[in-house]
Amino acid sequence: MSDHFIQDTVLEVFYALHSHPELSYEEYETTDLIRSTLRRSGIDILNLPLKTGLVAAVGHGDRVIAVRADIDALPIEENTDLSYRSIYSGKMHACGHDFHAAAILGTALLLKEQESSLKGLVKIIFQPAEEAPGGAGSVIETGVLDDVKTIFGIHTSPAFDTGTVALREGATHAAVDRFRIVFRGKGTHAAHPNLGNDPFIIAANFITAVQTVVSRNSDPFATNLISIGHVEGGKTWNVIPEEVLLEGTIRSMNDKDRKLCQDRVMKLAHSIAAAFNGMADVEWLIGIPAISNDKELTDFAREIALCEGFKVESAPRSLGGEDFALYEQKIKGTFIQIGSGKGLPLHNPGFIADPQAIYPASVYMAHLAAQALEHFYDFN
Ligand code: NI
Repeated sequence: MSDHFIQDTVLEVFYALHSHPELSYEEYETTDLIRSTLRRSGIDILNLPLKTGLVAAVGHGDRVIAVRADIDALPIEENTDLSYRSIYSGKMHACGHDFHAAAILGTALLLKEQESSLKGLVKIIFQPAEEAPGGAGSVIETGVLDDVKTIFGIHTSPAFDTGTVALREGATHAAVDRFRIVFRGKGTHAAHPNLGNDPFIIAANFITAVQTVVSRNSDPFATNLISIGHVEGGKTWNVIPEEVLLEGTIRSMNDKDRKLCQDRVMKLAHSIAAAFNGMADVEWLIGIPAISNDKELTDFAREIALCEGFKVESAPRSLGGEDFALYEQKIKGTFIQIGSGKGLPLHNPGFIADPQAIYPASVYMAHLAAQALEHFYDFN
C-alpha cells in the first residue's frame, strides 16, 4: 500500500462521511465504512459490545497506547456549497468528527505499514456519540482502556490555518453540569397576591443571586460560569402559578471550583425559596469533567508536531465540554487541536474543514503513536 493510496483512501472516507452524517448512537453506515476500510488492510478489530463505533488494534505486545477519534454528527441543516455536502436533511458534520474519523483511519493504515517495527500496540478508538452524553463512557465500560497507558485525541480547529497544531497542558475544556430547579409557591389570582405565594419572585431573586457565585464566591483568577437557559411558568396574564421551572448549566475547569459552584447553587435555591416561604426541588445532571492534559505528554506531542513541520500554537481554552475528559480521568492523555483552516466556528451550519489538513494529521498521529511507544512509554 503506497502512501498515495492511503492519502486517497483518507479523502474518500472523509467525503463519504461528510455527505452521510449520522447522529449520536446511530452511526451504523459510518461504522460499516470504517470497519470495511480497516479490514481491507488486514487490521484487527477488537470484539467489543459496542452498538456503533469500534476499536481497532495495530502492533503487538503489552505496551499499549490509544488514539481516539469521535464519529458522530449534529442535528444541524448544512448550509454550504460543498460538492460533498450532507445528503441527509437536518444532519451535518458541523464539528469535524468526519475529519477526525478519516484522519485517524489514515493513522491506522500508516501504522499497519510499519507494524513489525512498532514497539507495542496501538488501540485506535472510533468513538460514537461524543455529542450525546455517554459516548466515551460506553467505550470505557467495555474495559478496552484497562491495559492502556496513555491516550491521544484530536479535534479540528477553525481558529487556525491548515498546517497548525495547537496544544495546551492542563484544562482546555470545561466540566459540564446541568441543574433543574422547580420553585414552588402557592397559586392565586394576580389581583390577590397576598392570598398566595408568588414563585416568580423566588425565581427572579435566584436568577439575580446566582450570578454572585462567580463574581463573589469563586477566585477572581479562576474560570467559572453559570448560565440559565430555560425559565418556564404560568399560563396566562392574571394568574400567579403554583410553580416556576428553571434550568441552567455550571461550567468549571477543576473539581474544586466545580464543587464550590454546585454547593452555592444548591444553597441559594433552598435558602431563597425558604426566605419567601416557598420550596425548591433541585435536580442535578452531573456531566463530564474538565479536560486535563498531561504536561509531559503535551510537551512530547509538541516536539513531534514541530518535527513534522507543523506550526505549533497554544490551544485556546473553552467552556464547552468534550468527553475525551473521561479517558483522561482514567489515564494520562492530551487532546490535540488540528488547524483546519480559519473560518466559521464549530457547530455552525456553514462550518467547513479543509480536506488538505486531514492526511498531514494522519501522518502526525502515526508518528506520534510510534514515537510514544518507543520514547515515552518507559520513562513516564
Ligand atoms: Ni467535536
